[in-house]
Amino acid sequence: MKSYEFETLLLETDEDGIAVLTINRPDKLNALNNTVLEELEEAVKSIEKDDDIGAVIITGAGEKAFVAGADIKELNTLNKKQGEKQSARGQKVFFAVENCSKPIIAVVNGYALGGGSELAMACHIRIAEENAVFGLPEVGLGLIPGYGGTQRLPQLVGKSKAMEMILTGGQMKAEEAKNTGLAGYVVPQGAGVEKAKDLASKMLKNGPVALSKAIEAVNSGFRKKGFSDEAELFGELCDTEDFKEGTSAFLEKRKANFQGR
Ligand code: COA
Repeated sequence: MKSYEFETLLLETDEDGIAVLTINRPDKLNALNNTVLEELEEAVKSIEKDDDIGAVIITGAGEKAFVAGADIKELNTLNKKQGEKQSARGQKVFFAVENCSKPIIAVVNGYALGGGSELAMACHIRIAEENAVFGLPEVGLGLIPGYGGTQRLPQLVGKSKAMEMILTGGQMKAEEAKNTGLAGYVVPQGAGVEKAKDLASKMLKNGPVALSKAIEAVNSGFRKKGFSDEAELFGELCDTEDFKEGTSAFLEKRKANFQGR
C-alpha cells in the first residue's frame, strides 16, 4: 500500500497494482477548481511513472457527488481570452487521463455534472452507482461544455442523444446512462470500487504493453479538430452578458434571467 500527497486528491495504490484516485473536496461536491486540475495532471504523471500501478480507479469523496463540475466561482470572472485558455487547460488535463497508458475506470458515485461528466467520459470505462446523475448543465450558465463534453458525449451516446442532453442541460440517471452506453454497469451505492477492481484485475492478467497500445489504438480513431473549436466557442461565451448572468445566478442561488446577448 502506497499513497501520494495532494491537497485536493487522494491517491492510494494496493498490492494488486490498482490505484484509487479520489477527488477530495466534498464540501464543494468535488468541484474542479484550478488546484484540482493541476493536481490531477500531476497525479496522472505519477501514475505513468509508477511501475507498481497497473490500473486506476477515479471516484469522488463523500456520498453525494463524483464531481459537480468546474468550479463556477472561478469561471464567473473569465473573459474571452481567459475562457478559451481555461477550456484548453481542462481539455489538456482530460487528454492526459484519456491517453494514460494504464486503464482508468471512473466510478461515478453521485452527481457527475459538467466537468464531472467530462472527466468520467475521458476515463476508459464508466461504472455508475445507483445514485449517479450525469449531465452537462452548462447552457443553464450561459456556457457550453468546455472540457471535451461536446466531443466525447456524441462518441458515447450518439449525436441525437448528445444534442438533447447538451441543449436541454438535462440529467441522466444511472439506468439510462447504462442504456445509452454512457455507463457500462450500474451497481448499488458503495459497490462501484469493488466492481472496478474486479474489472481492473481481469485487465491486469494481460500484457501491460498490449493494454497501453490497445488504449492508444482505440483513442486514435477519435481524434477530432472539434476540441479546439469547443475551446474557442467556450471563450467567446465568456464575453457575453448571459454567461455573467448565468454563473452569478448560480452563486447567488437564484434563477438566471438571460437576455440573449
Ligand atoms: N462550482 C462551485 N461550487 C459548487 C459547484 C460548482 N460546480 N457545485 C456545487 N458547489 C458548491 C455549492 O456552491 C455549495 O457551496 P456552499 O455550501 O458554500 O454554498 C456546495 O457545493 C454544496 O452544493 P449545493 O448546491 O448546496 O448542493 P445541492 O445538493 O443543493 O445541489 C447540485 C447539488 C449538484 C445540483 C448543485 O450543487 C449544482 O447544480 N451544482 C452545479 C452544477 C453545474 O452547473 N456544473 C457545471 C459547472 S460548468
